[in-house]
Amino acid sequence: MHNSENMKIKNEINKIGSIEIYKLVQKYGTPLYVYDSKNISLNYKKIYNSFLSKYNKLQLCYSVKVNNNLAILKYIHNLGAGFDCSSKGEIYLAKKTGKAFISYVGNYNSNEELKYALDKTVDNFILDDISILDRLKNFDINKKTSFGFRINADLDIKDDSGIQLSGPNSKFGISEKHIIAAYKKLKNLGVQKFSIHMMIGSNIVNPFYFKAVAEKLMTIIKIIKENLNIEIDFIDIGGGFGIAYNDKSKDLNIERTAKEVTDTIKKYVKKYNLKEPILIIEPGRYILGHSGYLLGKIHSIKKEVKKYVGTDISINSILRIPLFKAQHEVSVHRLNNLQNKTERVNLCGQICWDGDILRKDIKLPILNIGDIIVLHDVGAYGFCHSNQFNTRTRPTEILISNGKSYLIRERERLTEFDRLVKIPDFLNQEYRGFEE
Ligand SMILES: Cc1ncc(COP(=O)(O)O)c(C=O)c1O
Repeated sequence: MHNSENMKIKNEINKIGSIEIYKLVQKYGTPLYVYDSKNISLNYKKIYNSFLSKYNKLQLCYSVKVNNNLAILKYIHNLGAGFDCSSKGEIYLAKKTGKAFISYVGNYNSNEELKYALDKTVDNFILDDISILDRLKNFDINKKTSFGFRINADLDIKDDSGIQLSGPNSKFGISEKHIIAAYKKLKNLGVQKFSIHMMIGSNIVNPFYFKAVAEKLMTIIKIIKENLNIEIDFIDIGGGFGIAYNDKSKDLNIERTAKEVTDTIKKYVKKYNLKEPILIIEPGRYILGHSGYLLGKIHSIKKEVKKYVGTDISINSILRIPLFKAQHEVSVHRLNNLQNKTERVNLCGQICWDGDILRKDIKLPILNIGDIIVLHDVGAYGFCHSNQFNTRTRPTEILISNGKSYLIRERERLTEFDRLVKIPDFLNQEYRGFEE
């Protein structure tokens, strides 16, 4: 029996994208990442149209690191996106979607990766350090590619929800004092198209942070023009467009953000007679965050001093819980015993680590073995951080589109654990004892 007809109680969920949750679990097993394509496309349109309606020189580059499933990349590419890639692997996947605009924003790059990015003729190449220019001399540089630097400006972002990625303690970008020397060197290298990049925070819900970023970059663009007579073709304000994990109404006001950013760009262009740059935005979390769910089954319930409800969603499947002390909203889908009572429990996974707690002391409807747990808002930085700690397989992934579910990553098999392992010959011979 399942509870799809049951009265709604808080935390109870029956369907995702019009499909019954118990059917998804029956078909694909758990743990299971479920992405709702309608949500992805709504979020995409919201951010894209907010900026485009105010500034038509726009390039949206979805940030591949956030969720790199190729089916998701293809879906987002079909909506019109290019990609922000930070590694050889991400460029490889982005290229598989077809002809996409690629902005490569790497750091501490190996020569092999630099060469790969150049050979694949990415459209925009952001350098994290001036020293990389000396190494670029050894490679062919495509005249169509724009080059620029990631700037580390120590702006006070004043946003408690966010993650700061700049300032003296950040590993990213070049400081303001090096900018003129850096762009001069770039010009001397024969570069003909220029860009500039700054991303100093993630999950920011304050529109004025983005205005501050645009203002800082436009000031620098003016200084570069005055000193080097270089016009900047692309202004890249990175990602960082924040969502509120437990209250969608508190997500970043994207209309306001787009207005602040584009007004700032237009103001500087007019005032200082600058070339109107193409604006690159690199959203990730904003598009995928609210679009993903993680489903798990309850396998064991223990009552000691506290009640522990044990599910097969362990923190190896959702590392952002211990990593960022993330609190994901939890819903349940109960299959039996539908009494309308709640209790406080610790919801935990199966990993041998005390930190494997999904939610501490959470009030949930009374649960039984076999019931299903749903974590919300896990579409971004969810699966990509998953791992095989405790020799547990990673979750399966599915995409829901127009009322149908599609498998987009198979369940890993046990052979995954030794697939790439090589056993040295001497271990195949029968031997005993210690090495001399
Ligand atoms: C260079 C760059 N661009 C874009 C993003 C995506 O950020 P968000 O998911 O906050 O939009 C990141 C995330 O770390 C990043 O490093």
